[in-house]
Amino acid sequence: MTSILPHGGQLINRFVPEQDVERKLTEAKLLPEIHINRRTLSDLDLIGVGAFSPLTGFMNADDYRSVVERMRLADGTVWSLPITLAVPEYIAETLTIGSTAALIGEEDGIIYGTIDVESIYSVDQLKEAEQVFKTADSEHPGVQKLLERPDTYVGGNVLVLQRAKPEQFEQYYFDPADTRRLFEERGWRTVVGFQTRNPVHRAHEYIQKSAMEIVDALFLNPLVGETKSDDVPADVRMRSYVSLLEHYYPEDRVFLGVFPAAMRYAGPREAIFHAIVRKNYGCTHFIVGRDHAGVGDYYGTYEAQEIFRLFSPEELGIQPLFFEHSFFCITCGNMASSKTCPHPKEQHVALSGTKVRALLRDGTCPPPQFSRPEVARILIEGMAQSVSSDV
Ligand code: ADX
Repeated sequence: MTSILPHGGQLINRFVPEQDVERKLTEAKLLPEIHINRRTLSDLDLIGVGAFSPLTGFMNADDYRSVVERMRLADGTVWSLPITLAVPEYIAETLTIGSTAALIGEEDGIIYGTIDVESIYSVDQLKEAEQVFKTADSEHPGVQKLLERPDTYVGGNVLVLQRAKPEQFEQYYFDPADTRRLFEERGWRTVVGFQTRNPVHRAHEYIQKSAMEIVDALFLNPLVGETKSDDVPADVRMRSYVSLLEHYYPEDRVFLGVFPAAMRYAGPREAIFHAIVRKNYGCTHFIVGRDHAGVGDYYGTYEAQEIFRLFSPEELGIQPLFFEHSFFCITCGNMASSKTCPHPKEQHVALSGTKVRALLRDGTCPPPQFSRPEVARILIEGMAQSVSSDV
C-alpha cells in the first residue's frame, strides 16, 4: 500500500461541509467580491482538495517572499512556485486585513469560495519573473501570464463552497484522497507519477516503462489546465492516452487521471512543484526527463533534474527518477538514450515538434519509431477538426 505522507504531513481539505454550504453561500453574497479567472479558480480548487498541501490558501506576503527567494515556505517547507491571488488595486482598496471576501468566477458569476484576508501586498513582478522563470522576457508564456496580472496580491486561508464542473472527460478527474484510496485498493506500494502536456510519444512511453520496471504502477497524470495555444488540446490528448493505454500497457498497472492545473512553463522550479503535487496524489516516485516543463531555450536540458540536488530526499519525500533524452536508435533496433546507445546521432530517429506538427497537419503519420500509429491517427484527426472549426 502506498503510505507516502502528503507534503507537510497532512492532506489539506478546505471544503465547507455539505450541510453548511447553503448558509455560507447566503453569507458570501454580502461579502466584498474578488473576481477570479479560470487559472486562479483551478488553483483554488487544487488548494481545496489538498493537491497543493500544505497550502491552505493563497500565499501571504511572508510565504510569497520566501518561496520566490529560497523555494521554501516561511516555515522552511520546500515549495518552489508562488500560488497567489492577484487583485486590481481598486478591489484591494475595498478589502481590510481580517475581513473575508467572496471568490467569484469572472466568467459565470458563481461564488466558488471565500478568502480570509490576512495580507495585502504589492510585488515586483519582474523580480518574481527573474527568480521563478529565470527570465523577465515577456515572450516566455509563463512570464507573459504573470505580467498580465495586477501586481497587488491578497493572501489568506480559503474555503471552497462550490466546484467548477469539468467541461469534459469528467471520469478522469480524481482528487488526491481518491487516488490515494484507489492506489491502496489496488495494493500498489510504489507508484510513479508522470506529468505531461503532450501526446505520449515513444520517448515518453520508453521512460514510463523503464520506470514501471522498478515500481508497482504508473500514474499517467496529464495536465489539462490552461496551456499555451500551440500545445495539443487536452481533449485530443486524452483520446490518444486512452488508445495508447488500451494497446500497449497492462491494464492492471496503470492509472489515468488528469491534473487540472495550469501549465507555468517554469522548467526547473515547476519540476519540483510537479513532484510535490504528485506526492500529494499518492505517488512515491516521479519522472523527470529532458527539459521538464520547459519552453523554447530558456532552460538547460537537464536543469530540471539538477535543481533536485538543492533539497534532501527527506524534505522532498518523493523519489525523482531522472531520464536522459531518449530516442529510437536504428542500429540498436530499440529505444535508448546516450546512457545505453553508442551509435552516432544519424542513427537516431529524432523529429522536432515543428516537424511532427507539419507531418500531422499533412495527414501523415510520423514513423512508428517516433509515435505509435494509434496515437498518430488520433492526432491527425484532432488537427483536422481544429482546422475545420477555425474556418
Ligand atoms: S512537460 O512540459 O509536461 O514536462 P512533456 O509532456 O513533453 O512536457 O514531457 C513529459 C515528461 O517527459 C517530462 O518529464 C519530460 O522531461 C519528459 N520527456 C519528454 N520528451 C523526452 C525525451 N525525448 N527523452 C526523455 N524525456 C523526455
